[in-house]
Amino acid sequence: MSSKTRILTGDTPTGQLHLGHWVGSLENRVALQDEFECFFLIANMHAFTTRADKPDEIRASTLEIVKDWLAAGIDPDRSTFVLQTEVPGIAELTWFLAMLLPFNRVMRNPTLKTELETKGLGENYSFGFPMYSVGQCADILVFRPELVPVGEDQLAHMEPCREVARRFNQLYCGVDPQTEDEEYVRAGGLFPIPKAKVGRVARLIGTDGVNKMSKSLGNAIFLTDEFKQIKKKLGGLYTGRQTMDEPGDVNNALFQYVRAFITDAERVAELERRYAAGDNIGDGHIKVEVAEAIDRLIGPMRERRKAYEGAAGDEKIMSLLREHAAKANAAAEETLHLAKKAMRLDFGRRVISFG
Ligand code: TRP
Repeated sequence: MSSKTRILTGDTPTGQLHLGHWVGSLENRVALQDEFECFFLIANMHAFTTRADKPDEIRASTLEIVKDWLAAGIDPDRSTFVLQTEVPGIAELTWFLAMLLPFNRVMRNPTLKTELETKGLGENYSFGFPMYSVGQCADILVFRPELVPVGEDQLAHMEPCREVARRFNQLYCGVDPQTEDEEYVRAGGLFPIPKAKVGRVARLIGTDGVNKMSKSLGNAIFLTDEFKQIKKKLGGLYTGRQTMDEPGDVNNALFQYVRAFITDAERVAELERRYAAGDNIGDGHIKVEVAEAIDRLIGPMRERRKAYEGAAGDEKIMSLLREHAAKANAAAEETLHLAKKAMRLDFGRRVISFG
């Protein structure tokens, strides 16, 4: 096993990744690959909790997300891809962790509540739907990471995960409840208490200028968008400003993009100064400048993605996922072995092999 500190994070395959994913978490993942031993999960079981009737879409999106990752710079030689359905230890651990979390605590999770609203699930959500939040604890804990790079919207899942980890360590590993989070493993616990790490822009606004960027709201710039599309989407961003000499609000949606994507700090400061003063600068011009900056960021991603186009590309992804399932299971099985031992469930030898 690598001596590097572990990271786990992931995405649910319900569509393509966009700039909100990049600034919220993906950028962090790419940057942390050297320093950490990284596991990146495709939560395809979670996708079934809201879309059990759409297996084809989930499968297609699974491949797309891995392509987005590779295009964004995640290196399959350094990092491990975890396809959730190929790692049975995750589902198994979910079952036991579900006992360590009060049901009403699960249902009070604000992220879960928001999803019930935005996905229009109403009263008719399945028994399995809230399971995903316990499942997320298992996704994380089965790899015993110390760090979980996530977007702001996922923070509400981290607290229950940390609680469950403490509880398991106390109940089954005899760790004193007074122990500091950082000390759990040294005190004999199986699970480190993982910390979240939010990206540099916690919440990227969508091109509607109102809501968080989200595929389902139709306000997203995808990592695959071409320059023309980026320009068009930004062009529709309404600021209410009429003329080049009208003083503008540097906290508006457009300037959130300026600060998120224009990398030259001096240029950002100059744009802010001229905008605030209404110093002969048009929104249209700034939009084009932002679109160019975004294109410089994602242009190389579109290029890298070309290696995975079409059926041959899909095949490459499939074989990568199979290869990585073996690595992911090796890590997960070690945890399951230790967890079951701690729970006095070490009745037999288990051998799970994938190929
Ligand atoms: N729920 C996350 C999302 O929709 C995806 C996810 C599943 C995840 N399991 C995880 C993220 C574990 C971090 C850690 O984006």
